[in-house]
Amino acid sequence: MTTPLKIALIGAGAMGRQHAGYIAKESAASLVAIADPFSSALADEIGIKHFAGHCEMLDQVRPDAVIIANPNDLHVTTAIDCLERGIPNLLEKPVACSREEASQLIAAQQRHSVPILVGHHRRHNPVAERAKAIIDEGRLGRLATVTGMWQTCKPDDYFSMEWRRRPGAGVILINLVHDLDLLRHLCGEIASVQAMTQNSLRGFEVEDSAVIQLEFANGALGSLTGSDAVVSPWGWDQNVNEVPIFAKHLEQSCYFLAGSEGALSIPQLTLWRYGDTRGWQHQLVCESHRYPQDSAQQRQLAHFLKVARGLAEPLVSVADAARTLAVIDAIQEAARTGQRQVPLTP
Ligand SMILES: NC(=O)c1ccc[n+]([C@@H]2O[C@H](COP(=O)([O-])OP(=O)(O)OC[C@H]3O[C@@H](n4cnc5c(N)ncnc54)[C@H](O)[C@@H]3O)[C@@H](O)[C@H]2O)c1
Repeated sequence: MTTPLKIALIGAGAMGRQHAGYIAKESAASLVAIADPFSSALADEIGIKHFAGHCEMLDQVRPDAVIIANPNDLHVTTAIDCLERGIPNLLEKPVACSREEASQLIAAQQRHSVPILVGHHRRHNPVAERAKAIIDEGRLGRLATVTGMWQTCKPDDYFSMEWRRRPGAGVILINLVHDLDLLRHLCGEIASVQAMTQNSLRGFEVEDSAVIQLEFANGALGSLTGSDAVVSPWGWDQNVNEVPIFAKHLEQSCYFLAGSEGALSIPQLTLWRYGDTRGWQHQLVCESHRYPQDSAQQRQLAHFLKVARGLAEPLVSVADAARTLAVIDAIQEAARTGQRQVPLTP
């Protein structure tokens, strides 16, 4: 049996705690130390070493790999500290706060050749894998339209933290970033966007609702509707059994894809096609595709261990995650100017 990989955690808040839980269930890894300047609670609970500064921890503990789950604006500098010490890392999303920051990280990675996996965990969900296989097998024919939704009602106390009401937060960067990443993965690169945003339901500086139009490079057209202030059962987090805090509406769908040969609802993976004859007067035949209910985060960790051991390429690289960030920049600009925008890749 291989020796468990020694993992250190940077940032022991809500997400860091979840990562510690996944590591505890993984026999091929052990959590050896935690760095968080504001809390030693998680390290004390587990009974491992706590450090206030992550550089001190990296130099003293010399972990095999690191999980970074600190605030967004520290992601790039922290990841670079790991790269400079030759330590592979799983970096939480968003990879950076801007395209410029993402470029700095890409340049640092080119200098050091150390792998980084970005935490867009939905891609590791078996439902996403199965949906991608159905699309790639050509079961939808030529993809023409994509309809996506992430709509829910965040509890009012979610906004008690000031940063969540100010630029740098908002439903697009915090939540729709996951949908945009997954839609890029499933449907291909996004060539241009148009968007409208609203902040009138909550009245904060950042948007609470957005409608985004997407033009994919393969010619498909899409719309993504998002809101954190509405009553709705439609969104990945309500429709997929993945994130524990969400009440589940597992019978509802959040993405609808339609092509020249078939249509697919996600996450149900119901595939609609014509039988022998096509045309709206004919009944569609539907097939249900099953998929295992494994945890996306647990699978992400298993994949990260392979990446850290040099046995696999990251499923979501820094450059890949930076392209999703570029799409978000374009969406914000489109909403501001009212004009179609082309994402500028770092
Ligand atoms: N993949 C997902 O679905 C998902 C979900 C939630 C959050 N996240 C990401 O995880 C990260 C953390 O989010 P969260 O919800 O846990 O936030 P949080 O505020 O609960 O936790 C952040 C932690 O980082 C600590 N911290 C602050 N400065 C630090 C520093 N210099 N070094 C180390 N630790 C420091 C804080 O003390 C806090 O404990 C964010 O980047 C967020 O975007 C990802």
